Amino acid sequence: MKKDLFALKGTICYSKNQKELVFAENSYAVCENGLCAGVFSQLPEEYKDIPVKDMGDRLIIPGFTDLHLHAPQYAYRGTGMDLELLDWLNTITFPQEAKYADLSYAKKAYSIFVDDLKHSFTTRACIFATLHRPATELLMDMLEESGLTTMVGKVNMDRNGAPELQEKSAQASAQDTRQWLEEIKGRYDHTYPILTPRFTPSCTDELMTELGKIQREYHIPIQSHLSENFGEIAWVKELCPTSRFYGDAYDMFGLFGTKPAANEEVSNPASASSNTCPTIMAHCVHSTDEEIQMIKDQGVYIAHCPESNTDIASGIAPIRRYLDMGLHVGLGTDVAGGFSLSMFRAIADAIQVSKLRWRLMDQTQAPVTLEEAFYMATIGGGSFFGKVGSFEKGYEFDAMILDDSNIRHPQEISTRDRLERLVYLSDDRNLVGKYVQGRKVI
Ligand code: GUN
Ligand code: FE
Repeated sequence: MKKDLFALKGTICYSKNQKELVFAENSYAVCENGLCAGVFSQLPEEYKDIPVKDMGDRLIIPGFTDLHLHAPQYAYRGTGMDLELLDWLNTITFPQEAKYADLSYAKKAYSIFVDDLKHSFTTRACIFATLHRPATELLMDMLEESGLTTMVGKVNMDRNGAPELQEKSAQASAQDTRQWLEEIKGRYDHTYPILTPRFTPSCTDELMTELGKIQREYHIPIQSHLSENFGEIAWVKELCPTSRFYGDAYDMFGLFGTKPAANEEVSNPASASSNTCPTIMAHCVHSTDEEIQMIKDQGVYIAHCPESNTDIASGIAPIRRYLDMGLHVGLGTDVAGGFSLSMFRAIADAIQVSKLRWRLMDQTQAPVTLEEAFYMATIGGGSFFGKVGSFEKGYEFDAMILDDSNIRHPQEISTRDRLERLVYLSDDRNLVGKYVQGRKVI
């Protein structure tokens, strides 16, 4: 028998596409060597003797990808929510992140973060650490141990930080980044590095140039922030006067997705043949038409962070427009701009803020539906990792088992209603099992 072959049996839900969910009651999701072999109402002959883990009528759904969050900020989540971005960074975030120079503090704080992330509704995540190399490696060691699949970035920042939170020069920052990449080479199975210039105000042109070189040398993806807040956008214009718009200030250094070669249609940045630079930009609340066009043309992923955009009053991103244009959109908690690690909550927030945008700002842009928000949390963000976020054959087997029996009801309800209730009412108690790439995590 093959090494890793089993089935989960229960009430299976996943996205067929952006607009439709599939519900398969009393069905089997088969995992074969870490990949999904499909969903079946009866086990096919070739699988009839494999171990079956019977989950009764519990829901089995694909894992969620948190496309943007900050591990060091988990320590103070839920505080300091009365400020806008730039004041929030200077008065709260930077002094807090400076503490990760101390490895014993980092160990204490990151243990809590990793343990909570492991027990959350997240199976994959793209994570900012801090500028500190040793603490970033410690975080990566802990995440590897957790069984989750993650991308982690040592943050780059060589200007406009706090005295205690800024690298000495562009060269020092680049050198430390190279050292980090060398030190972790071959060390992990499911923890990957991602280049992380914090945002344009934190990185000089010289540093961006160096990061562009490192990206092309190591072929690793990029994550950063884009067009989150009006004050931030105006500042970028001052700092980078030759840029046509904020996204151009990354593109000038080759840090903004994949430039299509002539006659090449880019649908998946990771599979493009030339100049591949898979990129996640968090927020994109106030992107201009030109910026949005470049996001589309270069296959940049948008991490939509509705809770954070509400908490630090950044605004409401035009997600209906992005979805209708066929952009890659995933969801991020952006802890600690967002206070909650729950990706179910991110789904609820994405739906709720889209209703406010529709009602108050633009009635041509219909609200986001449950189907669309669920898609963003699964395939939308998951596809940054490859074939992730579905139970269709060939997808990596990331699954969560949800026991919703504490969400009581006096009447029969549909499977879709059960899923929708979990979006609004779930907490950690509802998660009773989690698999990533076929590995049992909890
Ligand atoms: N822009 C630059 N740094 C940050 C950060 O830590 N959080 C958020 N939300 N935006 C940023
Ligand atoms: Fe962020």
